[in-house]
Amino acid sequence: MTAHENAVQRISIVGTGYVGLSTAVCFASRGYDVIASTRSEDKVRTINAKRAPFYEPGLDEAVRTSIESGHLHAEINRSEAVRQTEVTFLTVGTPEKADGTIDLRYVISASEDIGRALTRKKTYHLVVVKSTVTPGTVRGPVKAALEEASGLVAGRDFGLCMNPEFLRQGSAIRDTLYPDRVVIGEYDKRSGQRLADLLEGFYGSGIPILRMSLESAEMVKYASNTFLAMKISYANEMARICERVPGVDVSKVMAGVGLDERINPKFLNAGAGFGGSCLPKDTKALCKFAEAQGYSAPLLRATLAVNQAQASHVAQLALATLGEPRGKKVALLGLSFKPDTDDLREAPSLTVARTLLGAGARVSAFDPAVKQVSQPGFEGLDYPSSISECLAGAHCCIILTEWEQFKRLTPDDFIQSMATPAVIDARRIFDPHEFGNRLTFLAVGVGRELDVCRTSVRDND
Ligand code: UGA
Repeated sequence: MTAHENAVQRISIVGTGYVGLSTAVCFASRGYDVIASTRSEDKVRTINAKRAPFYEPGLDEAVRTSIESGHLHAEINRSEAVRQTEVTFLTVGTPEKADGTIDLRYVISASEDIGRALTRKKTYHLVVVKSTVTPGTVRGPVKAALEEASGLVAGRDFGLCMNPEFLRQGSAIRDTLYPDRVVIGEYDKRSGQRLADLLEGFYGSGIPILRMSLESAEMVKYASNTFLAMKISYANEMARICERVPGVDVSKVMAGVGLDERINPKFLNAGAGFGGSCLPKDTKALCKFAEAQGYSAPLLRATLAVNQAQASHVAQLALATLGEPRGKKVALLGLSFKPDTDDLREAPSLTVARTLLGAGARVSAFDPAVKQVSQPGFEGLDYPSSISECLAGAHCCIILTEWEQFKRLTPDDFIQSMATPAVIDARRIFDPHEFGNRLTFLAVGVGRELDVCRTSVRDND
């Protein structure tokens, strides 16, 4: 058999969230035959009708072309998906439990389904876990579920790997096609080689592929995300110090810091704090995991504490400009945890909105992608349909997400619409000099004479 005949061509993906569906369309776009399996009939219908089931730039188009080319189809039956393919990527979610640990329920039930399907296969099958799981999960409960359900033995009868995913929401497809590196955790050499061959074929040369133990690969994911979280909290801590020193601007400071090649400029933007479904969850989970191993992880705890305080600090800056907040209108520009997504999970905007509503302010929010906050506690929020409606009659405006259309606003846009033009730039999209000269302007990390930042610190700390 030639190398080509031996090459993996048919891939199944279990789970169709950001990771699963991005992986599916990217493999399909490069000629692999992909079956994306999900338990949701709705999602199966939507994908097979050539549409993405959630908002992600470029995904709709990628799903359409993949389905039209015949290289992708969605399937409700996991077992069928596994049976018809040579490799299965497991990409289901690992949501946060109330105690901060991860919920493995979906990973285990998917592993059992895959295991059952393996009993009907005559050829070697490789199972690759992409879901974010703490070290020991793949060798422990995942392998046990696969072996128990199949009656087969990992390493001997089927392959098992961990292949963490590093894509970001908002740039999921680009990140999947052009990752900085690929990490393969292997249960045994044969499994690792099988996945390395597949991924070398997919990426070509030029992208480093690192092979290591299952546990190291599981840890790479957490170590990477917590490092990113720590960089952001570091920038936010520097911002809080800079705010106490007139003439200092944290964005200039971080530019000066980031050009040191040992540090690099990315993820040093001070702002309202990190949100989303990954950085907060993974930092909490690694904290809990470390604790369970008898280590208290002070750096990770501090990373979370600084982050929590940052959103409250932004709300305090607004309250300080409002004076008596009761009855005053605050305009929030941006709700999503970052631009180009409608995702509100752990968004700093929620903390800010909750604090302002609690203080008796009237809060209006405009976000290009989020139409409303459906969770309890936000019933008092008002959702105007444009930026200008949101600003109209407001006493303070807070920039909470750096959407492109907000960056184009000028001081006049605020002056003309607002009752008292005061802007809190919590995402650093405006020039402090241009805005500071025209209206009341506070920006995260910009030193000022006002005592606002000190008041806010006493309230918070
Ligand atoms: C993050 C990681 O960046 C991905 O590499 C990883 O694969 C993903 O989690 C995951 O585990 O699935 P994501 O949550 O999509 O990706 O978003 P990020 O771009 O990392 O942004 C997270 C938060 O940090 C946002 O709220 C953003 O506003 C904030 N942030 C980011 C800052 O406040 N400052 C920065 O300099 C960068």
